[in-house]
Parts: sequence; structure tokens; C-alpha cells
Amino acid sequence: MEKSLGYLGILATPKQSNPPFSREAFYRFLSKEGMKTGLPVYVFLPEGVDIQKKTVTGYRYLPQQGSWELKKFPLPSIVYDCLWGRRKYRTQLKWLKAQANVTFLNHFLRNKITTYKSLVQDEVLASFLPPTKQVTSMNVIKEMLQVHGEVVIKPIQSTSGKGVMKITSNQTTHQAEGRDLKNNIFRKRFENKEALLKWIGNLPRVKRLVQPYLDLSSPEGSPFDIRVLVQKDSKGEWVETGRALRSGTTSGLTSNLCGGGRATTVAPFLESMFNEEQRMEIERQISAIGEKLPSYIESKHGRMVELGLDIGVDRKGKVWIIEVNSRPGRNSFKRIENGTKYKTALSSPIKYAHYLLEKKQKADGQVP
Ligand SMILES: Nc1ncnc2c1ncn2[C@@H]1O[C@H](COP(=O)(O)OP(=O)(O)O)[C@@H](O)[C@H]1O
Ligand SMILES: [Mg+2]
Repeated sequence: MEKSLGYLGILATPKQSNPPFSREAFYRFLSKEGMKTGLPVYVFLPEGVDIQKKTVTGYRYLPQQGSWELKKFPLPSIVYDCLWGRRKYRTQLKWLKAQANVTFLNHFLRNKITTYKSLVQDEVLASFLPPTKQVTSMNVIKEMLQVHGEVVIKPIQSTSGKGVMKITSNQTTHQAEGRDLKNNIFRKRFENKEALLKWIGNLPRVKRLVQPYLDLSSPEGSPFDIRVLVQKDSKGEWVETGRALRSGTTSGLTSNLCGGGRATTVAPFLESMFNEEQRMEIERQISAIGEKLPSYIESKHGRMVELGLDIGVDRKGKVWIIEVNSRPGRNSFKRIENGTKYKTALSSPIKYAHYLLEKKQKADGQVP
């Protein structure tokens, strides 16, 4: 077994492949980045945690061979938690989190409702939030429809745009449109409000929230949002890595890349919609959110290493916080600014892990 000098353990999601985990290329990159900077990086799966022996069986990347070697390691000093489908592994997770010598680099936001409830307590952040309610009964939707005429319902779990629907009910129109849970675009019209509500009531049982529909589209009718990636740097401070504009298809409601959206730079897009003064104000407000929100959310939900903020801008130029992702994708940054932001986006977790490890060693008295 390796002698423990401290290492970063990536808790990965199991996958039926070789090696048996998802995001292999990303973890390979992190392993190489770790090697360059003197921080060993190993990948492990929840099944690899041995509670009795206090060890983990994991994978070490061998650059010469270009392959992963299965090995037994002591417990990681730092864990980068990238595990999806956590319910099955509650025992291992709880145990690992309870180990005094294991530090988690990041925690997860449970769902959109718990995040909303935290954010809305802060006066400044609350001013950017659309009123949001969990759909505990059809009455919640009815009431929202009465006030706003058009609402959006969406699953409280992050879904890359799946199941996000706009519901309209007024004198002349009763309809639902958006994406179903399989990501197909649909539009359905109904005779009256009752038929519409009945249809909603029969949707697959997932927990949903409802909020007013915001016109977050360009004059051409493409929905768009701004993805802001904020990450911890090597001093443990939050910095904005970059922002990218994502725009969806004109026939759709969502701007997620998985739904066929495209990523471009922000300024030219906003310039085509707003005058210079408005654009500067929008960008300034987005910066303010990026500076305030991360440490605030950490104070409520535990340490984080990166957050993806989905920011909407309506036709009047009002800025909205649409979603906070604690496991953000990085693909929006691949093609913009020659991919320079993408490299920073990928390597950030290693930098913050270094910082945490040094802090830990100082606290343990290993370093004078
Ligand atoms: N209230 C809303 N009004 C208009 N469009 C919305 C609203 N909420 C979400 N959207 C659109 O749907 C997309 C996905 O919603 P989001 O809350 O980010 O959920 P997820 O990405 O987890 O599916 C957003 O990026 C935005 O384009
Ligand atoms: Mg989103």
C-alpha cells in the first residue's frame, strides 16, 4: 500500500466500461495535472471504500502505459466528490464524511427548492430570484397561473432542460410546451383550463417547482441564458473563470447545451439586444451575483469548489438567477476564447486541492 503523503481522491460515478467510471478523460487530465504539481490523484468508486480496513481500492493513472492501474490506497486526504446516484451509497458516503482526516473539496446542492430557500433569505440575492414554489398540489399551479397567466414548471432536480415546460392559460389559449422528460420538444393545446390541469396532474410523478414564465429570449425568439462558472483558485478564493452565452433553438424554451443549444461570447450577443449602458449594467449585476453568491451558498450548504450559475436576462434587461449548479459542466467554455477558459475550468479543482492540503498540513503541524 502507498505511504500516505496526502492525495486527492476523485469519488467517481460507476459506469460499465473500462476503466469502470464516467468522465475518464477529465480524470486523466486531473491525474496528469496532479503529477506535474506534486499532488497524487487517484480515482475511486463508492464500492471501493473498505469501512473495516479504512482503505480504498482505486485507480491510478499510468501515463507511460496510458492505462489505469487498480490499487489499494489509504483513505484520501481530500475528496473531489463527483458521484451521481448517491442514494445507493449512503453508508459509504456518510462514513467517509465522518472521517476526521478526510476533507471534502465540495458538497452538493440537494435540489432547486432547497437552494431557492437559502438564496431567498439574502436580500440582494432575493431581488434576482423569480418567485418559486414547490408543486405540492395542483392548487399551487392554479394560483400561480391566476397571478401570472404564464408559468414554468420543472423538476426540482437538475435535468439539463428535460421536463422544463411553459404553461399558458388565458381567455383564448390553454397550452403546455417545452421539453418532456426524454428531452423531446412538444406543444400541446387544450380545450379549456380544466383539461390542461388534468393533463398536468397525470404527468409522471417527479417533484416539480413552479415559477412565473420569464421572457428570456432574443428578439429572434431564441431562448438564451448566461452560464457563469465560478471556481476556487490556489488561494482558496472564489474567482469567475468565465461566462458564456448559451442560446437554444427558436422553437424551444430552454437554452441548455444538451437540448441543442450553442455557446458564444456574451458581449456581442447582449450588444445586439441592449444599448451600451444597459449592457454594462447587466454585466455588472452578473459580476455582483458571482461575487456574492458562492460564499453565501457555502455558508448554508458546506464547502464548494465550483458553481455554475444559470443567469437569465429578460427583454427589459432584468437579470434573473435561474439555477445554481454544484456540479457544473464545462462544455460552454470549449469553443469560446480559443479554449483558454476551458483549461482553467478543468484544472481548478487541483489548485484548490493543493491549497486545502497545505492548510491541513499546517494545521496538523507537519509543516512549520
Ligand atoms: N422561469 C423560467 N422562464 C423562462 N425560461 C426558463 C425558466 N426557468 C428555466 N427556463 C429555461 O429553461 C432552462 C433550464 O432550466 P434550469 O432551471 O436551468 O433547469 P435544468 O438546467 O436543471 O434543467 C434555463 O436555462 C432557461 O433557458
Ligand atoms: Mg440549468
